[in-house]
Amino acid sequence: MTFDPRLTAPEPAPGDNELDRSLRPQRFDEFVGQDKMKANLEVFVAAARQRGEALDHTLFYGPPGLGKTTISGIIAAEMGVHMISTSGPVLEKAADLAGILTNLEANDVLFIDEIHRLNKVVEEYLYPAMEDFRLDIVIDRGPAARSVQLHLPPFTLVGATTRAGLLTAPLRARFGITTRFDYYNADEITIIIKRNSGKLDVKLADGSAELIAKRCRGTPRIANRLLRRLRDFAEVEGSGVVTHEIAEDALRRLEIDEHGLDDMDKRILTAIVKKYHGGPVGMSTLAVTIGEDAGTLEELYEPYLIQQGYLERTPRGRAATSAAFELLGLSRKGLSNRDQESLF
Ligand SMILES: Nc1ncnc2c1ncn2[C@@H]1O[C@H](COP(=O)(O)OP(=O)(O)OP(=O)(O)O)[C@@H](O)[C@H]1O
Ligand SMILES: [Mg+2]
Repeated sequence: MTFDPRLTAPEPAPGDNELDRSLRPQRFDEFVGQDKMKANLEVFVAAARQRGEALDHTLFYGPPGLGKTTISGIIAAEMGVHMISTSGPVLEKAADLAGILTNLEANDVLFIDEIHRLNKVVEEYLYPAMEDFRLDIVIDRGPAARSVQLHLPPFTLVGATTRAGLLTAPLRARFGITTRFDYYNADEITIIIKRNSGKLDVKLADGSAELIAKRCRGTPRIANRLLRRLRDFAEVEGSGVVTHEIAEDALRRLEIDEHGLDDMDKRILTAIVKKYHGGPVGMSTLAVTIGEDAGTLEELYEPYLIQQGYLERTPRGRAATSAAFELLGLSRKGLSNRDQESLF
């Protein structure tokens, strides 16, 4: 039985939004990790501020829970402008977009989450808005129809997506800054845990933050979630302090994998190892075997498995490493036909 399948899922679960919001860093100096990206953004923001201009349109992509929304808010705060938030699926009609754009103030940040889910019509209205800060709207229908141009204040479109591959080329080309988020290493997650334990009033024994950090799939959102759950165990079953014993016991009872892998990670590795003798196997074949979309595997799961050294990209497809075999308790030679048949 899985205690809570959502506990290590990187995408937001019910209740997360509030937690996310309360723990979200407000300034660059509170934002841990992603060092290269942060250093560059600090320069771009400072330059735009000095010139009194809007920051260039910026696209953030990468797996869920790594801080795309967070950094967008930081940019607006550091620019000293408003951030107006919306998302791809919410902008159903061109009028929805026009309503937002015409209410912007100079240099504001318009944040569009899940920007890969914008519909075609809305996307085409966005092009001149991004390029020339103008909106072409059609008034009336039939023979009386005419196009009117509205001038917009300069603004920054910040787009966020977990699925960069689904963005159209013309949209992608209109972003001046495009940056990918990477999973955080254990040291960075440790810093985030220590900082947020203060904010959540969770008392951690020495070394507990390090212990928890290894189980968060390199994802701050999961770290925040675990922290809150561990506080429950510490308060009810201990003296209120998350000791090593309490942390180990709680993580075991919550069925958090000691390597921080989730169910889908394991299905991927199991399929490659058992069904394809460790690979290489092409991504589309693998996707069919697992019953998941190839793009999702490629953008949401594969990067973490590669970073952790369980998976390799080869010219002939994906291959499991020795570490993956070890993880599954199997050896390359010892794979029997029965193992392969018992896969699913
Ligand atoms: N670099 C960071 N430093 C400190 N905390 C962070 C950092 N990045 C993310 N967090 C924490 O993780 C939470 C989730 O981050 P955020 O909502 O920005 O992720 P996201 O990439 O937008 O996810 P999604 O793709 O699901 O929208 C934040 O509320 C914040 O508490
Ligand atoms: Mg987000």
